Amino acid sequence: MTIRRCIQADITTLNVDAIVNAANSSLLGGGGVDGAIHRAAGPRLIEECRLLGGCPTGDARITGGYDLPARHVIHAVGPIWHGGTRDEAKLLASCYQRSLEIAVENNIKSIAFPCISTGVYGYPNQAAAEIAIAAVNDFLKSESSLEVVIFCCFLDKDFLIYQKLLDQR
Ligand code: AR6
Repeated sequence: MTIRRCIQADITTLNVDAIVNAANSSLLGGGGVDGAIHRAAGPRLIEECRLLGGCPTGDARITGGYDLPARHVIHAVGPIWHGGTRDEAKLLASCYQRSLEIAVENNIKSIAFPCISTGVYGYPNQAAAEIAIAAVNDFLKSESSLEVVIFCCFLDKDFLIYQKLLDQR
């Protein structure tokens, strides 16, 4: 059975097969967790990202992890929150689903997600966490090759939300 758990950490420090990046559709870097991942991975990451030619919202792309402890980075493009009327929930769920599909295709056993879209993109934290956990649970119903899925929270408030939703206290 796949272990699902939440932790509070800087995702760039995690020793997992893949960390997920909360990227934008250019895949050319930015602030928040994206900036932190690019800084920690070193300049070869942006070189590989340039070759990908961007990624649509709700989808994801995989690269190497370079100087990170993680072997891979899966760059997922979350939706910008517009109040919930522009398919944000579906697009956010799709980020988690596509990232997990790509992970399985690449024989990844351990993966860590940040709280996609809840920073600069403004997605409400509680709703985003519910979608993230539901999407992961849905995926794991039919796929058992993953050993561990980590929800890597950075902020206290997200960690509290995930602990409660995962009943992990
Ligand atoms: N480790 C784990 N989580 C982190 C870290 C870290 N080192 N740093 C920040 N977070 P955001 P978004 C959390 O804004 O909302 C970028 O410019 C943060 O507290 O990084 O999806 C991209 O290029 C929050 O909980 O991503 C896009 O343009 C979560 O990561 C845009 O921001 C996501 O916040 C994407 O916005």
